[in-house]
Amino acid sequence: MSRDPRYDILFEPVKIGPVTAKNRFYQVPHCNGGGYRDPSAAAAMRRVKAEGGWGVIFTEQTEMHHTSEIAPYIELRLWDDEDIPIMARMADAIHEFDALAGTQLAYAGINGPNLYSKEVPLAPSAMPIRTYTSDPVSARALTKQDIRDLYRWHRKACLRAKTAGYDLICLYSAHGHGIIQHFLSRATNQRSDEYGGSLENRSRFMRELIEECKDAVGDSCGITLRLSLDETIGELGFANSEVRDLIEMHADLPDLWDLAHGTWADCSGPSRFKEEAAQQELVSGIKDLTSKPVVGVGRFTSPDVMLRQVNSGVLDFIGCARPSIADPFLPRKIDEGRVEDIRECIGCNICISGDMTMSISRCTQNPTFMEEWRKGWHPEDIESKGESDSVLVVGAGPAGLEAARALGNRGYQVVLAEAATQLGGRVARERLLPGLSAWGRVADYREYQLSQMPNVDIYLDNELGADDILEFGFEHAVLATGSSWRADGVARYHVVPMPDDGSIPVHTPDDLMTDNIPDGEIVVFDDDHYYMGGVVAELLAGRGCRVTLVTPAAYVSAWTSNTLEQAAIHTRLAEMGVRIVLNRAVSQIEQGRIVSECVFSGQADSMSADAIVMVASRVGNDKLWQELVARESEWGGHGIKSIKLIGDAQSPAPIAWATYAGHRYARELDKPDAGDALPFRREVTQLKNVCME
Ligand SMILES: Cc1cc2nc3c(=O)[nH]c(=O)nc-3n(C[C@H](O)[C@H](O)[C@H](O)COP(=O)(O)O)c2cc1C
Ligand code: SF4
Repeated sequence: MSRDPRYDILFEPVKIGPVTAKNRFYQVPHCNGGGYRDPSAAAAMRRVKAEGGWGVIFTEQTEMHHTSEIAPYIELRLWDDEDIPIMARMADAIHEFDALAGTQLAYAGINGPNLYSKEVPLAPSAMPIRTYTSDPVSARALTKQDIRDLYRWHRKACLRAKTAGYDLICLYSAHGHGIIQHFLSRATNQRSDEYGGSLENRSRFMRELIEECKDAVGDSCGITLRLSLDETIGELGFANSEVRDLIEMHADLPDLWDLAHGTWADCSGPSRFKEEAAQQELVSGIKDLTSKPVVGVGRFTSPDVMLRQVNSGVLDFIGCARPSIADPFLPRKIDEGRVEDIRECIGCNICISGDMTMSISRCTQNPTFMEEWRKGWHPEDIESKGESDSVLVVGAGPAGLEAARALGNRGYQVVLAEAATQLGGRVARERLLPGLSAWGRVADYREYQLSQMPNVDIYLDNELGADDILEFGFEHAVLATGSSWRADGVARYHVVPMPDDGSIPVHTPDDLMTDNIPDGEIVVFDDDHYYMGGVVAELLAGRGCRVTLVTPAAYVSAWTSNTLEQAAIHTRLAEMGVRIVLNRAVSQIEQGRIVSECVFSGQADSMSADAIVMVASRVGNDKLWQELVARESEWGGHGIKSIKLIGDAQSPAPIAWATYAGHRYARELDKPDAGDALPFRREVTQLKNVCME
């Protein structure tokens, strides 16, 4: 198939200073939880995107000097020449498919606590450091000599980036994370010299710095500026109107304006709170202020929305972070006329949690993300099938669907049996909850892919028993039978069922998802801490219930701080009138009252309620598996080589864990057992040959 000519404009080359991008698909900087610890894994991830057709591919933010680092977060570093080989590995990987390689130099200023380097942080004004963990450290104000040092450090970092092979260098002034923004914003720049006060003065640092970088490498590298569209912190902040004034004032200073909204949470807004192209209003009209190209972001997954951005003169480049993670081959699919094959980002921000937890990133939609080198997984290619022929997949939730899709791709004869009347499992139910409709893409993408495979048969409304599975004659069976919410409160606070005299009806999220919704005064007890407690409270409040959310954590939906949703969830619930009770656990249900206790002091209290919803923990639906294990001696007689349990049925977790489990099962079928060997590659720090004294 070939490209729809309507999309031709997306494939036009565009100049950025001294270099030219082959098309308008621009992967903006994004971290991956691997950074300097997993350089080959990160390089292979970018290489796959280059193969997938992105014209511009950036690294994550790269700490450009040791006096400003953000440990414990794991990004890239360009502190001195020793870091060049790691950086070069990524640039080389990107160049293999003719993409431009960009790196984002970050001097974190008021955002860098220097926990590793132990240097005193430097910022425009002396202030406490601003980090997610409010580290008890302050920055000192930059002297004029410090500013000159900073220019020299940037010059050297630019030269190192050029040596490493980069075509583009982005200076970070967005998300509150870069020192240029700290100079631009009156909230963080309280200087009274020529670098503070008027906008012209506040932008002096930016101008001189860009001139320095251009002087250093501008002959061969494009110098771009990533700028916050609106700091969203009220009057003192760098607001959208000032952003426009700034761009007008310095219209052609950088080689490209890279525009990104407010805080990182604003910019990477989850689908629960932000639509595709949500930043359009803040960007519109900015292109008219400059002759330089403009890139903007907005979880763009639809080629038509992308087209509109370019045709209506809003953007020159389609900036993507998450859509490029969910589908590294997005540009190529548009180019090849395979738009329906795009694996659309669901906006869950699980990818961000890898960075926030300093582990390694996952993607709900693309289980191969960050496994390209570690496991040799490619998002589009998969090895042909092994010696067996047939596989039965039981359960069509995220794990079962992904297993069936990947097994089908490998060429196995696959039967997917589902007890319900539709595909999707938990996703089919959860997509109906407030704000979660885009999560349904997990099922939609796979349903379409399966519909194209003649070797996969799907049977809905088909609940199988152990006898069925033994008698069907499949060589392999994989059970992806999902999980159920428990009603007895057992999770983290309660390790045994909580005392309950039965005087108040107890519901679980599963009841609510089958439209069994209580009314009146409802207590939601959230000891799960991810999204479900907040979503359930929102659902009930939306149906007119008077809701109190009780959680032992210090924050509502505490784990969602890792997906940058926590503040938005709290705001939404507060606006809907949900009463939020933190640091308390429901301890028992007694005589028509719900008793709660302070998690620190144990001080007890009680409240009346018409019902309680337990958002505690889930248990795997593994009854069928247990029955089959009990009959393992019969497997061989029926020609069965293996039966496995995967996904939530084995270990309840977020959806990304389930798609990963399904994919892994499919990849590893008919492969030799790796035994005790490490199931992925990694890089171990090289010891220096030095005296230890
Ligand atoms: C996992 C992840 C890591 C990110 N890391 C960075 C970063 O290092 N530097 C940066 O400027 N923006 C970073 N961002 C923000 C993105 O560049 C982008 O502006 C934002 O996600 C909106 O684009 P999208 O809707 O296409 O994801 C990151 C985003 C994600 C999802
Ligand atoms: S993890 Fe979720 S938000 Fe991130 S790219 Fe994948 S689908 Fe999109």
